[in-house]
Amino acid sequence: MNSSTEYNQYEKIYKDEIKKIESGLSKLLRDKKPESLYTPCSYILNGGGKRLRPFLVLISAKAVGGKFNQTYNAAMAMEILHNFTLVHDDIMDNSNMRRGRVTLHKKYDTNTAILAGDSLIALAYEYLLKDCKDNTKQIVSNFTKAVTEVCEGQSLDKEFELSRNVSIDDYKNMIYKKTAALMESCCAVGARIAGATNKQINAVARYGKYLGMAFQIQDDLLDLVADESEFGKTVGSDLIEGKKTYLLLRAMEKAKGVKRKSLQRVFENKGVKKEEIGFYKNLYIELGVTKDAEHEIIKYTKLALKNLPVLPNEEGRQLMNWLANILINRNK
Ligand code: IPE
Ligand code: IPE
Ligand code: MG
Ligand code: MG
Ligand code: MG
Repeated sequence: MNSSTEYNQYEKIYKDEIKKIESGLSKLLRDKKPESLYTPCSYILNGGGKRLRPFLVLISAKAVGGKFNQTYNAAMAMEILHNFTLVHDDIMDNSNMRRGRVTLHKKYDTNTAILAGDSLIALAYEYLLKDCKDNTKQIVSNFTKAVTEVCEGQSLDKEFELSRNVSIDDYKNMIYKKTAALMESCCAVGARIAGATNKQINAVARYGKYLGMAFQIQDDLLDLVADESEFGKTVGSDLIEGKKTYLLLRAMEKAKGVKRKSLQRVFENKGVKKEEIGFYKNLYIELGVTKDAEHEIIKYTKLALKNLPVLPNEEGRQLMNWLANILINRNK
């Protein structure tokens, strides 16, 4: 851990860099036609968010000895791709709220949201290519792998809703694909653009991957325990949708008797009613699975941090360390 002054210094870098990314994103689609396509795209791109994925691209470039400004376009590409996944995820998850606002498919309609998502993928490739020089093939291939993994992970996520025998290992494979693979790719792409060695690329990629695993388990936890106005998404939505989250699967491992019967109802009824969320929240707390989730988050964060020592740039390493510690304490 560092002193609080150092923490503020990294927070300032994060805020300044995110401002640049946001300003870039806001200019991207200006004056593009037809408005029926690009107004919804702008709605999601300019709707805030933590901008974690572009920041991962920037600090990975920095950590291997490169500069932020080598990777701004690639960083935006990663955020654009992430926004595509959010738009389609909200359709698939029947979500009404994202980043504290109504979701894109609710504000417009589902067809508009599907097409906005499609065009965001193309836009992401366009911006990624702007930062590719001599290693274009490897960078684009790495990015494409992330797109494929997200689709596979999202497919497993939906498949698991209907399945009775999902293990925690199955769950971890699913969250690697739907969430961690993209963060892994952000780090690898940032480092590759900055001309890193394979050893350095592998190290930052592992940092991104383990951070991503911690991030999704924490998202599952926040889905139940967060303050809705901070979180910006409907609390309890995973239970309502009958998602096989870390909490539910771990609870199934631990529960016996009537508690087990209550959990089986989530499977049998394909989700719970809004009024039952409080009951399940208490059940999870009694079973100690919210604590188990916290331990998993810390375990994966430590695995992420283990990869930093081989990276050559001190400030980049410190930014990576700062980010991992900040994320553990996030409430949105
Ligand atoms: C949401 O990602 C999707 C998950 C992988 C859990 P974020 O929590 O990074 O969403 P924004 O971009 O900050 O809104
Ligand atoms: C995130 O899973 C997966 C992707 C967006 C690829 P969630 O479905 O848990 O994400 P949120 O909670 O809706 O942001
Ligand atoms: Mg989902
Ligand atoms: Mg969702
Ligand atoms: Mg979630």
